[in-house]
Amino acid sequence: SAPVSFYGVHQAGIVTPAQDRLHFVAFDVTTDKRAELVELLQDWTSAAARMTQGKEAGTFGAVGGDREAPPDDTGEALGLPASGLTLTIGFGASLFDKRFGLADRKPAALADLPAFRGDDIVPEISGGDICVQACANDPQVAVHAIRNLARIGFGKVSVRYSQLGFGRTSSTSRAQATPRNLMGFKDGTANLKLEDTQLLREQLWAAAGDGQEWMDGGSYLVTRKIRMHIETWDRAPLSEQEAIFGRDKGEGAPLTGAKEFDEPDFAKNGADGEPMIADNAHVRLAHPSVHGGAHLLRRGYNFVDGSDGLGRLDAGLFFMAYQRDPHKQFVPIQRELAAKDALNEYIKHVSSGLFACPPGVTDAGDYWGRALF
Ligand code: HEM
Repeated sequence: SAPVSFYGVHQAGIVTPAQDRLHFVAFDVTTDKRAELVELLQDWTSAAARMTQGKEAGTFGAVGGDREAPPDDTGEALGLPASGLTLTIGFGASLFDKRFGLADRKPAALADLPAFRGDDIVPEISGGDICVQACANDPQVAVHAIRNLARIGFGKVSVRYSQLGFGRTSSTSRAQATPRNLMGFKDGTANLKLEDTQLLREQLWAAAGDGQEWMDGGSYLVTRKIRMHIETWDRAPLSEQEAIFGRDKGEGAPLTGAKEFDEPDFAKNGADGEPMIADNAHVRLAHPSVHGGAHLLRRGYNFVDGSDGLGRLDAGLFFMAYQRDPHKQFVPIQRELAAKDALNEYIKHVSSGLFACPPGVTDAGDYWGRALF
């Protein structure tokens, strides 16, 4: 696919029609020198601008430089096209501790997420000072990009954790067909989409008046690694599976409608007098109408990380959602889901992350997070 423009008012990789593959990484910053951090962000930005256009990370490339020096590109993407690669950076709350003098620039929206009922969060795969989301239609291209950022960051950052994802579980544009998650359901039907201009302004992009001017045009990313108990799920009857989501499995229509994009009618009762979309159905509990109009732009991916040593696949959803203020959007929705969602019997949240993703890089003289420093 054609290269996605790296420069713009907003970072690419948010409303960009979701690519098929993910390599997500969270870094710990190991230097305590502010100047080194800024230099790293500048170096990363120029490498990202190149790689997203299908070029090698550095100007000499994998084989064009001094033979006695390590190459400035690792080489595994030689000959591959840009494959729709986007690289999107985010800053975690821990970057705003006293090391870099950024404490007074920490957005209120970056306050820690609360613990939710049923959480089983593993700290080693949660948080991080800086995250980078690489999305592409070729997994080799996504991995190459993250690997080269890690290489460039040697001595200044170390990889805290990384996550591969295959099979987008969301559409972020009406031009895309809705994909399916590992439970076999269409996922992303009622998502915020590129075409929802007014809602994106209200619900996705932070504005200067929100508190921190440097986040004007940015967005907040929540990540949750959600393990699915797929073996148990696969023994649940189809009728129960559909009741859990409140949608049918084939078409993806709400149980009160016939077509995928029909609006759910939560007031409608069946012949038995019970609501056709159950009180504990996922789409009822997550619906904007019960959260004061709060929406999310979901952009998650399926994962299978081998097996768990107990005779089961280690599979699930790497949930990612962008929004203007997680404490007004993700938090109330997840609180409701954690308390009541029928899906909880089949899932477990094992990681958590919250990142402030700055506005876009405007041109070659600009760099990721410039307004912050
Ligand atoms: C809707 C699956 C976790 C928020 C849906 C739909 C499915 C689904 C199949 C219906 C189709 C659609 O509109 O996309 C899952 C699975 C999850 C999960 C399998 C976990 C493994 C979450 C979490 C949140 C969330 C953690 C946020 C806290 C939403 C929202 C909707 C939705 C906001 C749209 C509701 C509407 O407007 O109709 N999800 N979801 N989901 N989900 Fe999830």
